[in-house]
Amino acid sequence: MKQGTHDTQTEQQARAVLVSLYTQMDKRNNVNAEGSIQELVSLAETAGVEVLEQMTQNREMPDVRWFIGKGKVEELRILLEALGANTVIFDQELSGAQVRNLEEHLDVKIIDRTQLILDIFAQRAKTREGILQVELAQYSYLLPRLSGQGKNLSRLGGGIGTRGPGESKLETDRRHIRTRVTDLKRQLEEVMRHRVLYRERRKKSGVFQVALVGYTNAGKSTLLKQLTSADVYVQDQLFATLDPTSRTLELPGGKEIVLTDTVGFIQNLPHDLIAAFRATLEEVNEADLILHVVDASSERRDEQMIVVDEILQELGAGNKDMVVLYNKSDMCTPDQLEMLPSDSTHLRISAYNDADLERVSLLIQDQLAGGKRIYRIPAERGDLISQLYTFSSIVDQEYEENEAIFTVEINKVDYEKFGYKLQDYEVK
Ligand code: GTP
Repeated sequence: MKQGTHDTQTEQQARAVLVSLYTQMDKRNNVNAEGSIQELVSLAETAGVEVLEQMTQNREMPDVRWFIGKGKVEELRILLEALGANTVIFDQELSGAQVRNLEEHLDVKIIDRTQLILDIFAQRAKTREGILQVELAQYSYLLPRLSGQGKNLSRLGGGIGTRGPGESKLETDRRHIRTRVTDLKRQLEEVMRHRVLYRERRKKSGVFQVALVGYTNAGKSTLLKQLTSADVYVQDQLFATLDPTSRTLELPGGKEIVLTDTVGFIQNLPHDLIAAFRATLEEVNEADLILHVVDASSERRDEQMIVVDEILQELGAGNKDMVVLYNKSDMCTPDQLEMLPSDSTHLRISAYNDADLERVSLLIQDQLAGGKRIYRIPAERGDLISQLYTFSSIVDQEYEENEAIFTVEINKVDYEKFGYKLQDYEVK
């Protein structure tokens, strides 16, 4: 099929049966099969699929040819016919051969979890960087599956599992795809170079950086929008084009910070996608503070928090200053709320509640405040004393013989920027 020749399949709503395989290995690894398939249902719905039925098979290990057992394939075929389904979505990653076998036998579109997630990311990618990264991940996924695919390439014709690389590109041979991959990588490198330059500039400017992280659907984008509704995109053109998910936020005390949204985390994030988004996620490492947004009303809240913590560890951001925002508290039962900690680093909030937004701003401000510091400065060093007046607020001063003792308040950013000038005089 040529690009642009949309057949009915393109417009056709995907009506799917979801299939999950639970192996001995999963059992040993304590995989939560029920939770995983529930998540697959919401992923499918997010991608606009109508979910008709779910099917799970317990099996020692995957079948090489069919992934599930042959008997189960027959059962599936009858079910598909009875329901009028046109798609099967598997909860695990399938090999190219398994997809082809199943497709030929069942005559419906076969999609695996990875492809579904890639599809959702393709739908959502908005920034140039994001679009490039998803396209690269899609090609990395497709490339090993292309050999001998022949007429089955038409299955990639439209609808679910096909957003991103257009079909005409897929019809070309692997060599062309490789060329495209090289090109995408080059473009991404270019984008990354700008990003690094921007990052350095941002660092020099000494603006406090806050990153929003969290499981997908926790409410990060909503929070960013609600917190910064009165603000405009960061004016810097480079930043605005590369990363429109960063905005300035004015704190109650008048100081401006930059708040950045990041891609939503998800369990079993396809490997290609982690690799592709790694560079973006590494931005988290540059943040002075991480706000971990949690959907407090989710039944899988604890599991989701663990996934986020693990990914943060993997990125090397595990030891950063972090605040947990238990969002969607308006959807929680009183019992659920009761169980959530509430202290200086844990807040229960709703992104739609103004008073809660104010509390979040204040909390960021508190985190930014570096606390009190004491300096002993020789009385004749008026130059140093005037520096101290410039970058801190003086809380108290005393004189002892030839020394002035200052107790000051200085925020983290200013301390990083100017503190070194007076470090020899600081009382630790
Ligand atoms: P990803 O982009 O997938 O990472 O999601 P996200 O974390 O950015 O979530 P998003 O802001 O898109 O919110 C997901 C859904 O939750 C939306 O429908 C929001 O309207 C809803 N939502 C966010 N915050 C709240 C809240 O405090 N209460 C309620 N009831 N709904 C909320």
